[in-house]
Amino acid sequence: MLLEAALGDDRGGSYFHQEPLTGEQEKLFDRFIAQRAAHWPVDKIIGRKGFYKYDFAVSRDVLSPRPETEILVEEGLNICRQNKCTGILEFGTGSGCILISLLAELPQAEGVGVDISESALEIARKNACNIGVDKRIRFVRTSWFAENIVDELGSGFDVVVSNPPYIPSGEIAALDEEVKSFDPLTALDGGADGLRDYRRITGLAAQILAPGGWLIFEAGAGQAADIVAIGEANGFNRQAVVCDLSGIERCIILKK
Ligand SMILES: C[S@@+](CC[C@H](N)C(=O)[O-])C[C@H]1O[C@@H](n2cnc3c(N)ncnc32)[C@H](O)[C@@H]1O
Repeated sequence: MLLEAALGDDRGGSYFHQEPLTGEQEKLFDRFIAQRAAHWPVDKIIGRKGFYKYDFAVSRDVLSPRPETEILVEEGLNICRQNKCTGILEFGTGSGCILISLLAELPQAEGVGVDISESALEIARKNACNIGVDKRIRFVRTSWFAENIVDELGSGFDVVVSNPPYIPSGEIAALDEEVKSFDPLTALDGGADGLRDYRRITGLAAQILAPGGWLIFEAGAGQAADIVAIGEANGFNRQAVVCDLSGIERCIILKK
């Protein structure tokens, strides 16, 4: 992958590359190898990561999309197709990988992507354009802790989806170098117990979802029961908890 990126070639192109590298390509390749040796994740070096059906632009300003997050897209698509949902809001859109993947499969749907980070939203906008859903998506730079956020976002959404920061603050230091040094802290730190943002987002979802609307969360390992309890305390019903391929309860589906 690093060689292909240095060649500026499509995926798989290096297998067929017969020419010696140019000086420029060799310099770039050497830089990529040095970055990898210094623990840069491959996707942060080459600036893209495959997620669901598409390649998403990434940078150090966004969390690199994770394979387990694709479950939220699959579950979200099932819900939207079965219930003819067209209004989707994502809290913490980052690279935009979840919302953009949903909109790409649902031609009638429109989305709002919320994030506190303007530099993350720049990447999300680029991804929305590349994947051709930019006309159906509105990005809003704000904090979900902002007082006027409900007025700003409006209401009547069919689906709220979120993969919020969920690592307890005290566990950040023990994360792999590749995560803690290359994914933004705002994408990781979920407060003292890792649940701070679930509490806030659930309270907001109760206000902005239409009656019968759906709230879909990604959960960290061991958080599912607490997230369901937060949902129930805010008037939601537990619909399903879906495990990822490692057997971790990863996707929480709640209904208003
Ligand atoms: C775990 S990342 C998820 C990114 C992307 N949705 C994904 O699944 O790969 C969480 C995102 O929430 C954003 N975020 C953190 N705190 C926020 C806040 N108070 N208000 C709005 N967005 C916030 C971060 O900037 C980050 O992009």
